[in-house]
Amino acid sequence: MTILSDLIIERIKNKGNITFAEFMQMALYYPEYGYYNSNAVSIGKSGDFYTSPAVHRMFGELIAVQLEEMWRILGRASFTVVEMGANAGWLCYDIMRYIKNEYPWFYKKVQYFIVESNPHLREKQQELFCGNPVFDEKLSWHSYGEDGFSFDAVQGCFLSNEFIDALPVHRLLVKEGEVKEIYVGYNGNDFYEIVGDVCNHALKDYCINAEMPLRESRVLEINLAARDYLNHVAQKLNCGFVLTIDYGDTAQRRYRDNTTGGTLRCYYRHNVNHDYYERLGEQDITASVDFSFLMDVGKGAGLEVTGLVKQSHYLIALGVLEKLNNIRNNLETVLKVKNLFLPEGMGEVFKALIQHRNVKNPCLSSLKPLSSLKPGT
Ligand SMILES: C[S@@+](CC[C@H](N)C(=O)[O-])C[C@H]1O[C@@H](n2cnc3c(N)ncnc32)[C@H](O)[C@@H]1O
Repeated sequence: MTILSDLIIERIKNKGNITFAEFMQMALYYPEYGYYNSNAVSIGKSGDFYTSPAVHRMFGELIAVQLEEMWRILGRASFTVVEMGANAGWLCYDIMRYIKNEYPWFYKKVQYFIVESNPHLREKQQELFCGNPVFDEKLSWHSYGEDGFSFDAVQGCFLSNEFIDALPVHRLLVKEGEVKEIYVGYNGNDFYEIVGDVCNHALKDYCINAEMPLRESRVLEINLAARDYLNHVAQKLNCGFVLTIDYGDTAQRRYRDNTTGGTLRCYYRHNVNHDYYERLGEQDITASVDFSFLMDVGKGAGLEVTGLVKQSHYLIALGVLEKLNNIRNNLETVLKVKNLFLPEGMGEVFKALIQHRNVKNPCLSSLKPLSSLKPGT
């Protein structure tokens, strides 16, 4: 038993069974002990899982290419990048260094906000940037919570990579034709799951509106925290884009097959498991993102859909192949970068969703059909 499991047991004793979303919120975000608020979170070779910025700096450089195009579309005025959940700061580092070297005019206009809830990660980020003139006066740290963001409205781009999948999900179960919710209880020895009425009618409404086939025993994972996030983003984005990169798919593709189980899983030292109630605070718990849900709730909040593409499409359209061609003799790097866009690597499961607000018919090169790209562009 860990301190965190004692805290969750205490919560169940005081309140009664809790929704899986509340359990997941505590397991990942309880101050100091939750996985993402502790010192345990570790990404990369020595950690629990890889993310694209940990694979190679080219990922961040291509995002910089994207941001510069967005800046031009917005009229070359001041531009704020808001990065959600920046881990050790690698993505910010790669983006800003590239912007400074390649786009000096854009660099003059750009500000970078890091929104990071984990105090240990904030420290790591500050160590990475400390004393580096690329970041002087360009970078600041902010917070995001139930009341929204700690800064005023901005023009620019809200950027996240693997942020949405780390938010807690409600788990619903179709039982005898009815939608029920999975709750977590404790019997004195173990946590257990039990179904009850859906706790919130927004959840039921979503199942009805999404016209989801309610196959018996199907588990649906609904990320209301992502809805809240997009609502807050829409309030703070005067004009600009929301770029969300994560693993997942549209609801239709996510729920199309005959399997009824959900996508929820844990990562511990690069191994996947389904022991959600073990190693509390020491392992990641995550569910694949339902991009249809993000597009729908975004529209409701005033964010229009610019486009949704696979990560392979996204990186190829932004020029990854040309960049690889320039370093083709460096086999180690070539293999690493290929992992970012090949289908058997991160290219198919990861998607890039772009939404916009107060921008008229933006045309981003990253969303154009690949067949329209000219070689060398
Ligand atoms: C899976 S990690 C992704 C890290 C990074 N984006 C990457 O690609 O390597 C999720 C990140 O989201 C952060 N996070 C989750 N909720 C947050 C919140 N409310 N405010 C700020 N950061 C948050 C976590 O601390 C963690 O750094």
